[in-house]
Amino acid sequence: MAEATLSELVLQRLAEAPTGLDSCDLANTIGHDHQAVVGAIKSLQSLGEVISAQQRSTKRWELTSEGQEVVREGSHEARVFDAIPPSGILQKELMKLPSGKVGFSKAMSNKWIVMDKTGENGPRIFRIVDEIADNVKEKLQIVAEGKGDGLEEKEKTDLKKRKLLNELIVKSYWITKGPSFSTTVMKQETDLTSEMIISGSWRGKQFKPYNFDALGIMPDSGHLHPLMKVRSQFRQIFLEMGFTEMPTNNYIESSFWNFDALFQPQQHPARDAHDTFFISDPALASRFPMDYLERVKRVHSEGGYGSLGYRYDWKFEEAQKNLLRTHTTGVSARMLYQLAQQEKFTPAKYFSIDRVFRNETLDATHLAEFHQIEGLVVDFGLTLGNLMGVLHQFFTKLGITKLRFKPAYNPYTEPSMEVFSYHEGLKKWVEVGNSGVFRPEMLLPMGLPEGVSVIAWGLSLERPTMIKYGINNIRELVGHKVNLQMVYNNPICRLDEDKGSNHQRNPIPL
Ligand code: PHE
Repeated sequence: MAEATLSELVLQRLAEAPTGLDSCDLANTIGHDHQAVVGAIKSLQSLGEVISAQQRSTKRWELTSEGQEVVREGSHEARVFDAIPPSGILQKELMKLPSGKVGFSKAMSNKWIVMDKTGENGPRIFRIVDEIADNVKEKLQIVAEGKGDGLEEKEKTDLKKRKLLNELIVKSYWITKGPSFSTTVMKQETDLTSEMIISGSWRGKQFKPYNFDALGIMPDSGHLHPLMKVRSQFRQIFLEMGFTEMPTNNYIESSFWNFDALFQPQQHPARDAHDTFFISDPALASRFPMDYLERVKRVHSEGGYGSLGYRYDWKFEEAQKNLLRTHTTGVSARMLYQLAQQEKFTPAKYFSIDRVFRNETLDATHLAEFHQIEGLVVDFGLTLGNLMGVLHQFFTKLGITKLRFKPAYNPYTEPSMEVFSYHEGLKKWVEVGNSGVFRPEMLLPMGLPEGVSVIAWGLSLERPTMIKYGINNIRELVGHKVNLQMVYNNPICRLDEDKGSNHQRNPIPL
């Protein structure tokens, strides 16, 4: 409302100004803040051709506080002159006056006063004129009345040198009537509503144009997405357990590393386009460690290392197909292959938390991409008992102590176990992860020594995050419907660690 009336006031004044108006003068005459007037001018400008406004800068002179004092009480030299009685005054007394120093030298150079050095008590000062004209005060008064333009430039620079005046550059607008000038403005609509469309009232309305130059509101700082907050907690757990992070910075993987290296047969349904996103350009990968690839081919098609293999016609072209990785276990395979290339085998503990892609039907809990948390330990003689032990340790650090294992199937692990945890809230056992011992058909072709085994497990990052932050629909966590305020408001993630007691203190229910 306030702006509308100010805009109208601007238009009324402009109607009476044939050549135009300066926004600063206008602000002064109507007694409004200049910024507010500029705001009104901008909104009038946005109406189209009602007014036109040109930015300009003008010089203005303003009294300093000392200058204002001179206007009130006279110049320093005048005050010094007035303070001298007919009998004169000792210089040292004169200097004690507030205006003494400056006033004395100015009054001397104006030849208003003289100094007599013959006296006994030191130099004495006398007036030598009867009357003075306080020019400085007069000039400043002119400026104070807003008529500073009447003064000569040199006079103003002298006063500026004495710090009685300040020169200001004022940015203002020169406004003139536009071709469709009118003193009344129609309120512009900012939204086209369904009601306007139904009733047809939009026809008679004016719509506010978009301001593409608006700067927007600067965020105070960046904020970590809940997934990233939970990820950092999981990383912390792995790091505490002495695991090293694997480099997972390749979303695109070849079928060879994603499937073949994991002893997943080429006709496995997961390798179907219904489950996997294949890349069309470049469709095929070409660089592989060929001797290793030959051993993988052999173990699939003929067997070896005590295995019968799958006994089918393994095709290089199938292994070459590029895809969006369906799990991070391909990265684990690359790392294990690298480890096997060392002269002397060294045990290792690896983890990764990164994005994977699956051609899923989307629903409230599934997207075509998610984050996989994966851990693995490679050493001589690891058994299923070690896997259960390390899973207990890992999940205890998450605040989950009641675990159960159920036999499962993965092409690359034997045995394989799904991991269940008792959910205190739901009062039932829920699946929290998948795990297993990597098959010799996967490890031996890599060149890992006999007797080395790998225990590994994987889980999703989204599931614990959704539960931790009470998010029921995955689309509220990932994608274009994410409410940034949610990202801003959610606290950092602190998984409630169980400190070894049997009693579960409010664990995060995975
Ligand atoms: N790659 C498995 C998955 O995608 C997880 C897993 C990792 C299972 C390691 C066993 C061992 O579900």
